Amino acid sequence: MIIMVLFTVFVPKVACTNWKRVMIVLSQNLKAPDGAPYLDPLDIPYKIIHNHTVHKTFNKLWRRFGHYSRPLMHHKLKNYTKFLFVRDPFVRLISAFRDKFVKPDEYFYSHYGSTMLQRYANISKPPDSAKEAFAAGIRLSFTHFIKYLLDPQTEEENPFNEHWQQMYRLCHPCQIEYDFVGKLETLDDDTEHLLKILGLNNYIHFPPGYENRTAVDWEGEWFANISVADRRKLYNLYETDYKLFEYDKPETLLDE
Ligand SMILES: *[C@@H]1O[C@H](CO)[C@@H](O)[C@H](O)[C@H]1NC(C)=O
Ligand SMILES: *[C@@H]1O[C@H](CO)[C@@H](O)[C@H](O)[C@H]1NC(C)=O
Ligand SMILES: *[C@@H]1O[C@H](CO)[C@@H](O)[C@H](O)[C@H]1NC(C)=O
Ligand SMILES: *[C@@H]1O[C@H](CO)[C@@H](O)[C@H](O)[C@H]1NC(C)=O
Ligand SMILES: *[C@@H]1O[C@H](CO)[C@@H](O)[C@H](O)[C@H]1NC(C)=O
Repeated sequence: MIIMVLFTVFVPKVACTNWKRVMIVLSQNLKAPDGAPYLDPLDIPYKIIHNHTVHKTFNKLWRRFGHYSRPLMHHKLKNYTKFLFVRDPFVRLISAFRDKFVKPDEYFYSHYGSTMLQRYANISKPPDSAKEAFAAGIRLSFTHFIKYLLDPQTEEENPFNEHWQQMYRLCHPCQIEYDFVGKLETLDDDTEHLLKILGLNNYIHFPPGYENRTAVDWEGEWFANISVADRRKLYNLYETDYKLFEYDKPETLLDE
């Protein structure tokens, strides 16, 4: 097998898990309990994929190495294949909300959820843990989450978390010449294409698994409780992602 070195760039929640599996197989440096490297991406246990050591986004690498090691970055960016997968911006937000706040997630609760409850749900002392909040029937709504994104105070305090940070800010598409930009909406075709570019299509089969739900009325249900004024503000916040990655403006949500 020709060893090809990849420099991967993930947009969180954009087929991240499956690509991480593929990268782990390619890098051959993670061994199964029997000591052999994993050969099939699907054999890698989910908890390993989400190990934070393994989970390194480009942004983290960039922050870590970008400043004091520009020549190294330059070398890598020149010689490695760079790809990026993007997703419809509003659908990506819904997905982030569903993933991080609909089930108890202690990290997201303590870093973000409890602040959102305080500020937007009028709960002055939210429970200490996600477990306790859920037990007490306290749930963050999608409306609270959107309010948090629209509140100028949010970004003044800290940069957006990578799961809702605008994709263009996360992936520096204007500074980095990507070899390939795929879309989650056409994941199967785009993956096949990418694996061909990488010369890996005979070696690797990308695990299927993308839930096939892109319907606009589904988006409509999620945004039902968000005012049109707020939807428009939200669109403005993510407009660059819509334009740069060529997603249709969600007109039906925005005019009323
Ligand atoms: C995460 O991965 C690193 C390196 O492979 C390992 O040392 C560490 O124990 C792992 N952590 C967990 C929680 O599995
Ligand atoms: C790319 O790799 C080649 C061969 O390893 C090396 O000679 C070259 O300097 C690298 N390019 C950059 C920009 O570092
Ligand atoms: C917020 O809660 C306080 C006390 O719990 C209550 O007095 C106040 O009316 C609430 N405000 C809103 C907007 O619900
Ligand atoms: C996904 O949806 C598209 C459009 O409705 C359809 O053509 C395609 O067959 C679906 N794929 C799967 C795997 O269900
Ligand atoms: C919208 O509000 C209704 C009534 O409060 C609630 O039952 C529903 O779950 C909300 N929808 C979303 C997507 O948050």
